[in-house]
Amino acid sequence: MERSLVLIKPDAMKRNIAGAIINRFEQRGLKIVALKELHMDGALAKRHYAIHQGKPFFDGLVKYITSSPIIAIVFEGNNAIEVIRKMMGATDPAKAEKGTIRADFGVDIQNNAVHGSDSPENAAKEIKIFFSEKEIFNY
Ligand code: RTP
Ligand code: MG
Repeated sequence: MERSLVLIKPDAMKRNIAGAIINRFEQRGLKIVALKELHMDGALAKRHYAIHQGKPFFDGLVKYITSSPIIAIVFEGNNAIEVIRKMMGATDPAKAEKGTIRADFGVDIQNNAVHGSDSPENAAKEIKIFFSEKEIFNY
């Protein structure tokens, strides 16, 4: 079993489509083992997106991800990281494959509805940023 961190991003929160996105992951057989709503501050945003520091879109990305509350979820399932990335589609919704979450719900390259961990190393790091061990359930 593998775990991945998913964020329902501000554009999805503001458009009331968090449930619709979460539903897709659940219907695919991924299990919610941790979930919370929180409003990320600048420090948390910079930690989560540290890998993008120095890129031209970094400041805008921090501003965007801190612009409203988000929902952070740990999903568990077979091959969860790759399965979730495939379900999300390409970063830019205009280039995302038909039927993916970003193709169906994303607005543009920044307002792309959802985040998903891109490797086991990053999943482990990202999960620790948002959740303590006690907040993650085995069932
Ligand atoms: P994520 O980390 O959120 O799952 O998205 P990703 O792997 O598909 O894309 P990544 O390259 O990690 O970029 C992180 C987020 O930064 C915003 N972005 N904006 N304006 C731009 O050119 C640009 N490029 C990326 C997006 O919100 C992207 O999801
Ligand atoms: Mg990424």
